[in-house]
Amino acid sequence: MIPDKEQMFEEMQACFGDDRRRIKHAGSVTGYAEQLYEAEGGNYQVIVAAGIFHDIGVHEAERKHGSSAGHYQELEGPPIARAILEKLKMNKVLIDEVCDIVAHHHRPGIVDTLNFRILYDADMLVNLAEEVNTNDLGKLDRIIERVFLTIAGKQLAKKLYLEKQ
Ligand SMILES: [Fe+2]
Repeated sequence: MIPDKEQMFEEMQACFGDDRRRIKHAGSVTGYAEQLYEAEGGNYQVIVAAGIFHDIGVHEAERKHGSSAGHYQELEGPPIARAILEKLKMNKVLIDEVCDIVAHHHRPGIVDTLNFRILYDADMLVNLAEEVNTNDLGKLDRIIERVFLTIAGKQLAKKLYLEKQ
């Protein structure tokens, strides 16, 4: 069965509660992931679920470990995503793949699938503005070339960050 996007989004919102920043972030990443899927292909269900749930472990990481550091999120996220996706009756093989992406989404190269690369790039498209100085366009161009994993991700990053000025 295919859980629909709205259901997954509602489950994510319920989990994040009043943390509007996280909800907005998940929505933006999912939107970019869908755009990259249009250009690159991959498995739509896996990509959308990974976009919606990629940071789902952040509150549990803070609660259990007192830290939202990437590796705690990667540790706490998959069981939460799995429980929700099982409840929504997603295919087990696809759940495994989503959880694998969630478990490694700060560390590119370990899971090297198209679906992973799309989620990674979508997250990076949102995070780039926060993580690097976007005023130095030459430097930004080199960073985009280095960090993005898909052609469509690089193209969209350049469009968003280099052509806006
Ligand atoms: Fe994220």
